[in-house]
Amino acid sequence: MSTDRTGTILVTGAAGFIGSHTCVDLLSAGYRVVGVDNFLNSSPRVLERVRKVATGEFEFVRLDVRDRDALAEVFRRWPIDAVVHFAARKAVGESVEMPLEYYDANVNATLGLVGVMAEHDVRRLVFSSSCAIYGAVDRVPITEDTPARPTNPYSRTKWMCEQILADVCAQDQGWHITSLRYFNPIGAHPSGLLGEDPHGVPNNVMPFIAQVAVGRRDELAVFGDDYPTPDGTGVRDYIHVVDLAEGHRLALDHLGDQAGHRVINLGTGRGTSVLELLAAFSAACGRVLPHRVVPRRPGDVAALVADATLAREALGWTARSGVAQMCRDAWEFQRLNPAGYDDEKGV
Ligand code: UD1
Repeated sequence: MSTDRTGTILVTGAAGFIGSHTCVDLLSAGYRVVGVDNFLNSSPRVLERVRKVATGEFEFVRLDVRDRDALAEVFRRWPIDAVVHFAARKAVGESVEMPLEYYDANVNATLGLVGVMAEHDVRRLVFSSSCAIYGAVDRVPITEDTPARPTNPYSRTKWMCEQILADVCAQDQGWHITSLRYFNPIGAHPSGLLGEDPHGVPNNVMPFIAQVAVGRRDELAVFGDDYPTPDGTGVRDYIHVVDLAEGHRLALDHLGDQAGHRVINLGTGRGTSVLELLAAFSAACGRVLPHRVVPRRPGDVAALVADATLAREALGWTARSGVAQMCRDAWEFQRLNPAGYDDEKGV
């Protein structure tokens, strides 16, 4: 196991929600970070914020990971030791509308990245996967050996990438790859400088609630209260983005432990319903936030909760923050950045 943290890490999707928090964590731990992003769903302003929050050597190149020449140039310019690959499209509904875009941005980009890595003799990778791979499960908590049943193009791209990475590792024992299947990342950096800032109307519950709290939306539409859960609303395993970032660093630290491809869940093991999350956010912002129950969202499942045992055993990782802290940090970011990173952005 290498814990000297003197290496140079390429982070794709470095300006994104999880990418930016991971850059901060890696820089704080002593790694040199080279970030790349095409800003499709992020803002260049994130980079200044990362530099404010973390000291250390942070380089950045604007590029699309599908541009193999531009990517190869990064590997020629810096002595990359390992890669954390976040860059991807991630909206489930959109993936149904534009599947080819998703297969290109997620699967094709990963193929290209792995090819460029091999050409430059870099065979250490942490891949950003998702609990969406499990689909509708029969029981929770979910262990990593639960069969994959992806139900939409987005989750199929993540599943395909995992299979490609497993095949690459099977062919060449020199590869060390960990795919991290995250549950529902929320929260923000405690400084209030970094957080989640989706373009347009948020698809996900947490940024929507935060925008209700700051007055950009009237009320939360709760998608169904007739699920077989304690209060009838959907249950998810929300994980603080700072904990998730630490999980990536620990996965990098432990890449050397074993050759090949391994898959690890990152979640807290605790489920929270939509109404519980709304109550926690109301407590954080000091105001009861309005909601209205509407019909279920097609494709949603009742409950998704991680069994996080393997992360603890393999990486020494456990989530530190609970939902109250996640809401406090998300609220602080939204309060300090009411219109997100770009002031001119429309609501
Ligand atoms: C989805 C994806 C996941 C992805 C995540 C973030 C699946 C199964 N999950 O998670 O892979 O990482 O988005 O992009 O494909 N809800 C409301 N009102 C809203 C929004 C959501 O009530 O306005 C409810 C949903 O019904 C659900 C819960 O809140 O019960 C969480 O929804 P959301 O934040 O969208 O995340 P997931 O759908 O779990």
